[in-house]
Amino acid sequence: MFKKLILSVLFISTPLLWAANSDTTKTDTKAPLHGFVGTAVCGMCHHTDKQGKQLDIWKESKHAQAYKTLETDEANKIAKEKGFDTPAAKTEACLKCHATGYNVEASLLGPKFKVEDGVQCETCHGGGGDYKTLSVMKNKKEAMEKGLQIHEDMNAFCVTCHNSESPTWTKDSKFDTEAMWSKIKHTIPADK
Ligand code: HEC
Ligand code: HEC
Ligand code: HEC
Ligand code: HEC
Repeated sequence: MFKKLILSVLFISTPLLWAANSDTTKTDTKAPLHGFVGTAVCGMCHHTDKQGKQLDIWKESKHAQAYKTLETDEANKIAKEKGFDTPAAKTEACLKCHATGYNVEASLLGPKFKVEDGVQCETCHGGGGDYKTLSVMKNKKEAMEKGLQIHEDMNAFCVTCHNSESPTWTKDSKFDTEAMWSKIKHTIPADK
């Protein structure tokens, strides 16, 4: 445990590595480089048929419920069994995969940001404070320089949370990326 801590301290002490690292679980425990604006802001543009209705698709997904799940009796029971004396929604070891922005300075959270939105746009795409404007968004390279994260290696990305560290993971669990992506797929229509 202590060894792991030292290793992670060494790792996060290099800003370049921070930027290169898209592992959300780890990003969340570090100071983010960019502010979070919240799904309502991303959804202002990403809700039309032409864009691909990302907001609606996300709202229908379980990711949108991930924080609320922590407020259930079932979650509190799991947290207790794991030896935590705080409710699940106040336990960092649960929040790290079920929420975003719970551990950052208030000044980094925009007025529309809600921790209750659970696993939200910016959990996966990075804090949008600096890339959310139309002119930046239209320029993929610039957007990425300003914090937009895209995940060409989806296999590697999803399992940063979907893994055996999750208390509800069983020995029979496995993550089928293709099947799971088909449940949350939100691509921009090609013929827009
Ligand atoms: C002002 C409107 C606007 C807002 C707000 C906005 N976007 Fe975008 N976004 C766009 C447009 C336009 C594109 C480019 C679409 C295209 O290339 O056809 C885009 C592209 C993207 C892409 C695809 C990048 C690529 O080329 O692969 C992602 C991912 C994305 N946005 C995520 C977000 C997230 C997350 C937020 C909130 C933090 C957000 N956007 C806020 C308008 C917006
Ligand atoms: C930040 C952590 C995190 C990341 C990254 C993440 N997920 Fe999830 N995912 C969760 C949590 C937490 C739940 C459970 C939410 C609930 O039920 O409260 C979940 C649930 C789901 C579900 C619903 C469960 C089911 O069996 O239908 C799907 C589908 C899913 N995730 C797909 C994906 C895919 C695909 C990726 C990668 C593109 C991904 N997730 C990345 C945390 C994450
Ligand atoms: C490593 C990431 C991770 C951590 C840490 C984590 N979870 Fe989860 N949790 C998930 C994922 C992913 C799922 C979705 C499982 C699935 O695919 O159905 C999930 C699902 C759940 C569910 C079931 C939701 C349902 O659909 O019934 C509960 C309850 C839950 N988690 C509680 C907790 C509690 C309490 C903690 C802290 C003690 C915790 N989790 C920590 C990733 C995590
Ligand atoms: C669980 C993680 C996850 C969440 C939550 C999530 N996305 Fe994505 N998103 C991805 C992945 C993975 C891709 C495919 C690879 C890529 O282009 O980033 C993607 C792709 C996109 C694209 C580009 C589609 C294309 O055709 O190029 C846009 C736009 C986008 N997401 C916007 C959003 C918005 C807006 C939200 C919130 C309403 C959101 N995403 C929530 C993981 C996520």
